[in-house]
Amino acid sequence: MTATHQTVAPEIASQAPRDNLTLSPVVRVLIVDDDPALRKILSVMLSAGAFLCRTSTTGEEALALLERHAFDIVISDLHMPGISGMDLLIEVRQRYPNLAFLMVTGEDETRIGVRAMQLGADDYLLKPFDVDVVLGSLHRALQKKKLEREVHEYRLHLEEMVSERTQQLQTALRQTERSYEDTLEALGAAIDLRDGPTAGHSRRVFLYSMELAKTIGGLDHQMRSIAMGAWLHDIGKLATPDRILLKPGPLTDPEWEIMRRHARIGYDLVKSISFLAGAAEIVLTHHERFDGSGYPQGLRAEEIPFGARIFAVADTLDAMTSDRPYRAALPLQAARDVIERGAGILFDPLAAAAFLRVPKETWSIIARGTAAVEPSAVLAAGTIRVLGALLVSPPDSAQ
Ligand SMILES: [Fe+2]
Repeated sequence: MTATHQTVAPEIASQAPRDNLTLSPVVRVLIVDDDPALRKILSVMLSAGAFLCRTSTTGEEALALLERHAFDIVISDLHMPGISGMDLLIEVRQRYPNLAFLMVTGEDETRIGVRAMQLGADDYLLKPFDVDVVLGSLHRALQKKKLEREVHEYRLHLEEMVSERTQQLQTALRQTERSYEDTLEALGAAIDLRDGPTAGHSRRVFLYSMELAKTIGGLDHQMRSIAMGAWLHDIGKLATPDRILLKPGPLTDPEWEIMRRHARIGYDLVKSISFLAGAAEIVLTHHERFDGSGYPQGLRAEEIPFGARIFAVADTLDAMTSDRPYRAALPLQAARDVIERGAGILFDPLAAAAFLRVPKETWSIIARGTAAVEPSAVLAAGTIRVLGALLVSPPDSAQ
């Protein structure tokens, strides 16, 4: 049996001094009580104010009404057959957190009223009712909910603002990094242009190193460092005098000493740029050799950063398969033989093995297609997966 009852206040303005409700023109109240007398009393009490009241005899019926209609507040008796007032409160709190809830208790049930408030009721009303107390309590409950909504909305707005500002900062940071990358890309190109006999060397070793890193796998977090380290490895040569850098004949010992300085000069140039710290290490160690025979520090094996050990293989591959003033480019097989023989001696065995796993034609395709891939695009890619799509090697080369 449904026992809903509805009353609407005819004059809202006349109630302003008493309840001072400013939330909405009409406050929608759901009164839940199995006692018809108490439902009637509350309905009449509220009918003089700006309230639209509906009544319900059970908790089950109340939940059904809440499903179908919008309310601002529920006033529920504690003791009812079926769903008790406390159970109804728990359900309402779960389903309608913004709905105000007043629990009706007997005079000797103050502790239960307090318990109801601990479970989420906004207040409790003692029987018998006093109209001023009821309206005051109702008013406070609605104001509390209004404030909670405002705080919630403010927090949401704040989160939006923080998210927006974070995004702006990230964009600004990315733009700054991009500016660095553009500058460094130009510097790498300048190295290639200046070092005439090895034209395109930086670009090729950069791509060869990427292919090797992709083949080895598990290096996503080092990819940018390896990429930038390979691209800028000879940046220190900008400080090497032309008479030495471009000398057609063999270098004297003092000239070699000057030439070897480019590793540390390059490192000093790059190390102060925070996001290039990993690349700087590769610039410094790109002439180190696995057996300790390299320079400038004579590091050996795992003392050499892994990116530099990968680079050593890429560098040898390019040096042997490129034209030189004193000889024509050697076939790829010659480079394979040297790298295979040098595994564990000059070259890291893992990097050498990765090189040998890559099909020969992949290296030729990369060498021919270098002009199609911009270093900045590879750096922006960030992951090996995206990098793989950028590289010109066929998909099976990563096996
Ligand atoms: Fe170098």
